[in-house]
Amino acid sequence: MTWFMVGVVVVAAGLLRWRRPAWYWLTFGVVLATVRVLVRYASVMDACGLTVPPSRWRLALARVANRPVPESRVPRILRLRPTRTGLVLRLKLRPGQDAFDVSAATDRLRHSFGMYGVTSREVRSGVVEVRMTGYDVLKQVQMPARTEARPMRVPVALREDGSVHYRDYRAVPHGLTLGATESGKSVYQRNLVAGLAPMDVALVGIDCKHGVELFPLARRFSALADNPDTALELLEALVSHMEEMYQLIRAEQRISVAVPDAEIAADIWDLPDDIRPVPVVVLVDEVAELALFASREEEKRRDRIITALVRLAQLGRAAGIYLEICGQRFGSELGKGITMLRAQLTGRTAHRVNDETSANMAFGDISPDAVLAAIQIPAETRGIAIAGDSTGGWHRIRTPHTSLRQAVNTCNKYADRTPDVPALAAYRPAVAALSSARLPLSKTAPATA
Ligand SMILES: Nc1ncnc2c1ncn2[C@@H]1O[C@H](COP(=O)(O)OP(=O)(O)OP(=O)(O)O)[C@@H](O)[C@H]1O
Ligand SMILES: [Mg+2]
Repeated sequence: MTWFMVGVVVVAAGLLRWRRPAWYWLTFGVVLATVRVLVRYASVMDACGLTVPPSRWRLALARVANRPVPESRVPRILRLRPTRTGLVLRLKLRPGQDAFDVSAATDRLRHSFGMYGVTSREVRSGVVEVRMTGYDVLKQVQMPARTEARPMRVPVALREDGSVHYRDYRAVPHGLTLGATESGKSVYQRNLVAGLAPMDVALVGIDCKHGVELFPLARRFSALADNPDTALELLEALVSHMEEMYQLIRAEQRISVAVPDAEIAADIWDLPDDIRPVPVVVLVDEVAELALFASREEEKRRDRIITALVRLAQLGRAAGIYLEICGQRFGSELGKGITMLRAQLTGRTAHRVNDETSANMAFGDISPDAVLAAIQIPAETRGIAIAGDSTGGWHRIRTPHTSLRQAVNTCNKYADRTPDVPALAAYRPAVAALSSARLPLSKTAPATA
C-alpha cells in the first residue's frame, strides 16, 4: 500500500512538472531544490572554481597543532530564500573573490544544481545575490498577485529571473520599444495602458495604423490621433500644454530665504497636491508613419512633428509629460532629428529584430551583449524582449498576453478616471461613437488591473 502511495505521488509530481511547472515548483520543486542546493553546495562550489585556498594563519595553526591541512573555503551562505519561481541565494564572498567570478560561473551552477536559470548580481561590496529559477518562467507568464505599487510605476512584464519588470516613468521618463512586425510591441504597449489605467494619469495616443490598436481603448484616453495631420496638431497642443505647466511651476516657485531647499519646486512632483497637474503619458505606435513623407507638404509636416517630439522629449519630464514610442526601426534613415530624439529615449526595449542594425538602434550605444540577445530571440516566442534597466544592465522579459478584449475591459472599468486636459480637449475621442454594441463588456473575460 505504501509503495502504491509513493508511486501515485511520483506520477502526480511528474505530471505536474510536465503540464503545470509553476504548480510543480510550489508543491515539490521548491523543497527538492532547497535540499539539493544545501546538500551539494560545498562540492558544487569547489567544482565550479568558486573556492579560495585556506589563509596563511589557518595553515600555520594546523601546522602548529599538527592537524591535517584545512580545506579550501567556499563563499558563506548569508540567506537562502525560496520564491514563487525559484531560490534566491545571498553569498558573502571570500577575500580574493569578486562578483565577476560568480557571474562567469552561473551556467555551471545552473547545470550543477539542476535549475532552469541562474543569474547573479552584486548587492554591495563582497555580497552577491544568486537568483535561480526552477522552470521557464517566460513560457507562460503569470504576474505575481501583489506588486510594489508606486505612482507612475507599472509592473509591465516578468524577467527571466522571476522578478517583476517595472516601467517607472519617474526614474526613466521616456521609452523606446523596437521590434520586427508581429514581435509583440503593441501587446507590450497594451499592457502599459492597462497598468496605467487605474492611476491618476492622462493618456494620449497616436496610432497611425488607423487607430486599430489604441482606439478600442478610447474610453481611458484623454486625446487620440489616428493620422499624421491630427498627430501634428495634437503634439503642438501638447507643447503648449507643457509651456503652461512651466508657467505654473514658475508661479509656484517663490524662492525666498524662508523656503527650505527641498520645497523649491522644479517639476510638477514638487508642487502641492491640490494644484499639481495630472501627468501625461504619450503613447506613439508605429512611429515611422510620422516620419515618412511623399510630397513637399508632407515633408514640412514631418519636420514639425519631429520637432515637437524632440521638444517634448527634451523638456517634458519636469512638466510631467512622458513619451512611450514604438516602432519597427528607429534610425537615421528616417531623416533628420531622429537620432536626436532617440538619444532622449532612455528606457530601451527591443523585441525580436531581424538584423543587427535594428538591434543597434536600441542597444548599440548601451551594451553589445544586449544587441546579440535581441537578435537571438526566437520567432515563435513572441512577446519576449530585451529591456535595459536603470543601472545600465539588461534583462530578458516577457509581458503577460493581455488580449485586446481584456485591455478594453480594464479601460472601460477605469473610464471615470480619464482626466480632462484643457489644452487637449479638442482631441478627446468621442466616446458616444464607441457604442457599447461595438465594444461589449465581456462578463467572462477577466479585467486586468
Ligand atoms: N507577451 C506575449 N505573450 C504571448 N503572445 C504574444 C505576446 N506578445 C505578443 N504576442 C502574440 O504576437 C502577436 C503579435 O503581437 P503584436 O500585435 O503586439 O505585434 P507588433 O510587434 O505590434 O506587430 P506590428 O508591428 O505588425 O504591429 C499577438 O497577436 C500575440 O498573439
Ligand atoms: Mg503593432
